[in-house]
Amino acid sequence: MTEPFIESEMLGATRWTSAAICDLVDENKGSIDPRIYTDEQLYQLELERIFGRAWLCVAHEAQIPNAGDFFSTYMGEDPVLVVRQVDMSVKVLLNQCRHRGMKLCRADLGNAKVFSCSYHGWSYAINGDLIRVPREEEGYKNKLIKSDWGAIEVAAVELYHGLIFATWDPQAPSLKTYLGDAAYYLDTFLSRHDGGTEIIGGVTKWVVKANWKFAAEQFASDMYHAPLSHLSATLAAMPEGTSVSKAEWKGTGYHVRTHQGGHGTGFFSAPTEAAQMENIQILFGWMGEDASKYYYTQAAENLRQRRGDAPLVINGAHMTIFPNLSFLPAIQTLRVWQPRGPNEIEVWAVTIVDKAAPQAAKEQWRLGNIRTFSAGGVFEQDDGENWVMIQDVLRGYRARKTALNTSMGQGFAKPHEHYPGIVGDVFSEEAARGLYSHWAKMLTTDKWATLYD
Ligand code: FES
Ligand SMILES: [Fe+2]
Repeated sequence: MTEPFIESEMLGATRWTSAAICDLVDENKGSIDPRIYTDEQLYQLELERIFGRAWLCVAHEAQIPNAGDFFSTYMGEDPVLVVRQVDMSVKVLLNQCRHRGMKLCRADLGNAKVFSCSYHGWSYAINGDLIRVPREEEGYKNKLIKSDWGAIEVAAVELYHGLIFATWDPQAPSLKTYLGDAAYYLDTFLSRHDGGTEIIGGVTKWVVKANWKFAAEQFASDMYHAPLSHLSATLAAMPEGTSVSKAEWKGTGYHVRTHQGGHGTGFFSAPTEAAQMENIQILFGWMGEDASKYYYTQAAENLRQRRGDAPLVINGAHMTIFPNLSFLPAIQTLRVWQPRGPNEIEVWAVTIVDKAAPQAAKEQWRLGNIRTFSAGGVFEQDDGENWVMIQDVLRGYRARKTALNTSMGQGFAKPHEHYPGIVGDVFSEEAARGLYSHWAKMLTTDKWATLYD
């Protein structure tokens, strides 16, 4: 019997079957079918089954400190408002007026007593209740039941180290279950001090003409490109005459695929003081002396004391929380890859720092991120150009039929005595295989239990 096409809320029956989707990302062969980056129907399925169900990072607490503060963002392509309530809890509301669908709030952020639609004037309290309808008496003869027409609210909101996550799916597991092994690394990266983290400045936004998964996968899994793609920019930031070998991170590298959930991270951990000194020089060149000294000494020591297990001095790390939250510890850029169709990403990036860091270090991270990982940053250009050029190649009929290779490190990753997850060598594509395998599972199953057993 032929397998039925997948029933999609948005598309009716699509031309994709579960088996065909799972075949796109073949873990055994270590291959990917490039249509995952270009197919419009797969993209619509992603909006419904991944962005419509997953825990998504929508803001940092520091962006909405006071009652009435709001931050306007997206969950997939759905616009949402993240709003601090009077009792200081956080609500996440669909940014869509219930009358004719106008964007309810058009500001990027601010403080509001009500959200008043600019089309016909329906007004909503900051908790989403519809509280005022112009001409309610003469137009609606007082028959409109306003309590039925409040702003739509997400199913759940949870906080983790200052990051605010939301999901549309009432069946979604708890955020802790969703993060799984990734929680250990988030704790390492974002909880060095009791004071937690803060955001410096605003959100930098720009468009990259490529599929969102190129970016999510690279930050989850790809240390491989860094010594080559970023070599010239790294050397340019170091003293004149620095040799190529000095521009690579030293020490033992680890690469982590979480057991469940499609998250990934990788990092170098310098085992000796000498190796650590070389690593400091790299971060020094990228960010500056105060930031690198703070990161490798004070912050690392603090982390050791807080955790007690003392295993990690993390250098040069990358991370993605599935599907589209990525972070570079030490560089301290945190970003959401907002999908905009199969061929485009809107990148929303912030610089995140320990509140306890010295002011001089914070300022170096602010400036360092502008130079390196931002709309005009040198490393960002390296990455963006790679992704855009692949997307461009995939316009070709023959190119879209040509399988891509994801086999690096296959069979060599395994559980580790210190580090949670499936751990391999730093140069591996284990986390990419995990991300795509989870992607296929989310597209093809309605049951969270089969994703998080
Ligand atoms: S669309 Fe908002 S009031 Fe009409
Ligand atoms: Fe990169």
